[in-house]
Amino acid sequence: MTFEKSILAAIVAVSAMAFTAPALADGEIKYRQAVMKSIGGHMGAISGIIKKGTANRANLVTHAQGMADLAGIAATVFPEGSDFGETEALPAIWEKPEDFKKAVKMFEDAASAFNMAAKSDDMAQIGPAFGNLAKTCKNCHENFREKKQ
Ligand code: HEC
Repeated sequence: MTFEKSILAAIVAVSAMAFTAPALADGEIKYRQAVMKSIGGHMGAISGIIKKGTANRANLVTHAQGMADLAGIAATVFPEGSDFGETEALPAIWEKPEDFKKAVKMFEDAASAFNMAAKSDDMAQIGPAFGNLAKTCKNCHENFREKKQ
């Protein structure tokens, strides 16, 4: 197969998948979990910097910006129909959309406040802002994520 033909075949295969609902839901779930893992990754990196486990303190602003950007897209990773399959997302997300929106908003606000604090480079602001951010993860996980046994 030529290179062009194999690219074409891949495009055809991907578009065929897009029209199959279960595959799409599966993709949405995997994408959501990947976004959450990125959020968790930034959280771990930030925690390492705050606890002085690394000399890379100057990178804090990068992780804070990444966290704020990801908080900004958090609302988009829970589309209708992505509630069944290999997911820990609870039906409450779609059954109580107003409550869920509030949990997302809390996260967005805390992530942007943390971003501002990180830019200030003032530990007296960074510490409490990090605590508030962590609370918003916990709040949403407690109400909208299946508990691990
Ligand atoms: C608005 C709700 C909400 C907020 C806020 C939120 N999460 Fe999540 N998180 C979820 C849900 C729901 C899942 C389960 C997703 C799934 O399985 O489809 C999840 C899953 C995860 C996972 C596991 C991903 C995987 O499958 O491997 C990690 C790690 C994670 N969240 C970290 C965080 C951190 C850290 C924060 C805060 C900085 C945060 N989350 C904020 C709702 C939220």
